[in-house]
Amino acid sequence: MISEEIVAFKNPKSISAESYRALRTNLEFAMNSEDQKVILVTSSHVSEGKSTIAANLAAVFAMQDKKTVIVDADMRRGIQHRKFKVTNKNGLSSYLAKLSNFNDLLKPTDIPNLFVITCGPVPPNPAELVSNKNMKDLIEILKTNFDIVIIDGAPVLPVTDSVILSAICDRVIIVASYGETHKEELKATKQSLTGAGANIAGVVLNKVDIKGKGYSKYGKYGKGYYGSYSYYGNSEKGENK
Ligand SMILES: Nc1ncnc2c1ncn2[C@@H]1O[C@H](COP(=O)(O)OP(=O)(O)O)[C@@H](O)[C@H]1O
Ligand SMILES: [Mg+2]
Repeated sequence: MISEEIVAFKNPKSISAESYRALRTNLEFAMNSEDQKVILVTSSHVSEGKSTIAANLAAVFAMQDKKTVIVDADMRRGIQHRKFKVTNKNGLSSYLAKLSNFNDLLKPTDIPNLFVITCGPVPPNPAELVSNKNMKDLIEILKTNFDIVIIDGAPVLPVTDSVILSAICDRVIIVASYGETHKEELKATKQSLTGAGANIAGVVLNKVDIKGKGYSKYGKYGKGYYGSYSYYGNSEKGENK
């Protein structure tokens, strides 16, 4: 069974699940034509919540009957195979290095309509692999086979993988972690991405304690850094563990 961290599927009535659905709705408005379907989730650093948000976002799209694939493109610290409890054999790194076929790449999950492409074994050269034409071609193939493609990216400031990828995705979501991500870092992240030609949909502010009860989540999403739309999630402690 898939991880409890995919709260949008495990506990669809929770406030957190509702916040992921709100994020989905906003993205649907932002992606105004049918051929726009590739969303990169990234952030400044590790552990800000990219993989958690990418997995839940993929889940809510799939639960809306959209044929969805989540691609784990953090080839250094990939985690989606653990969240969805699938093998990491034949993952993205092996496909890009031409060691796996496309047919072996897509793994079904416990969530109907949702497939995962895991990161594969850690390669020596992840940035080179994502800048390879194979990556662009893979995205094109996924676009013809799926309604939505969610890419769980590496962090922007330490490595270039997501900056490279952002240019071939339709929209980019930047995750910021409340009390952890510095304003200047967020600015630098945004600049790197826009400099590469990324189309930034908005920022999700993660891990905000709105009730003073420890680890919880508040999300803010909209145009640029200060969107007019915001959404709230309650403590994930009870829901996740
Ligand atoms: N909103 C949240 N509430 C509780 N825990 C969270 C939340 N977002 C992330 N986490 C936890 O923080 C850790 C890092 O999250 P992860 O999504 O793997 O970050 P990243 O992909 O940015 O490195 C994980 O243990 C995850 O379960
Ligand atoms: Mg991650």
